[in-house]
Amino acid sequence: MDIIRSVADLRARLQRVPNNVFVPTMGNLHEGHIRLIGIAKPRAACTVVSIFVNRLQFGPREDFDSYPRTFEADCRRLRDAGVDVVFAPEEKEIYPELQTFVVEPSDLQHILEGAHRPGHFRGVATVVLKLFSLVMPHSAIFGKKDYQQYIVLRDMVRQFALPIEIIPAETVRAPDGLALSSRNAYLSPEERREAPRLYRILREAHDEITAGARDFQRIELHSMWELANHGWKPDYVAVRRQADLQAPAPDDRELVVLAAARLGKARLIDNVEVNLPR
Ligand code: PAF
Repeated sequence: MDIIRSVADLRARLQRVPNNVFVPTMGNLHEGHIRLIGIAKPRAACTVVSIFVNRLQFGPREDFDSYPRTFEADCRRLRDAGVDVVFAPEEKEIYPELQTFVVEPSDLQHILEGAHRPGHFRGVATVVLKLFSLVMPHSAIFGKKDYQQYIVLRDMVRQFALPIEIIPAETVRAPDGLALSSRNAYLSPEERREAPRLYRILREAHDEITAGARDFQRIELHSMWELANHGWKPDYVAVRRQADLQAPAPDDRELVVLAAARLGKARLIDNVEVNLPR
């Protein structure tokens, strides 16, 4: 496994094996990332993983400085997973000058996560476009835990006609249902025991909709109330269409229930897809 720090070295290395599949990450890797690599590996001769904590996607009061950085442990996991190239640039390699050209996603960037994290998706889209132009993969894998991120990047690739297939991967969960996330590290032991409630509430919403409930606003409010009742500070629970994350029309069959809520210091997000029979 090659660990590469500079853009020049990355370009030289990938010239040798241009058939590559890409998994972008911010490090602090867990089983969810390893699953993405498992999906990537059979698709190309070379699997590239980036580790880069992207300042541009963090708000001024967010956790950029304290975001867990575990480079040595990450490299051990990546080696065991059979990754070929790790691209772990310093900030100056990615942003050698002030990044004044940015990717401005559609209005999708202002709803749900975007409403609570202004500028987040602009930062994500900008760094991912830049990483794509450095790595030039034919495919890239993104976890569906960050559902809105996946939709924004899928649309970016389509609208800019980038020759890259975006492959979504299912969320990986702990046995009690909690979605794996680097930010779970912020939970105290007591909060960790409480945290699976988020997924349980999403499953309940899923089951109600599957059983025929169509008053989505009631379901959203009830779910938020449940969370608040157990010490959470919910930002949103929202029933949306999978295709574009807009409010569903009566005949929409592919839905997703998305949620974000704070528990202590941690802000957790999760979602559950609902596929109704046609
Ligand atoms: O999902 C993440 O880890 C990040 O948002 C990404 C896609 C690596 C961009 O920094």
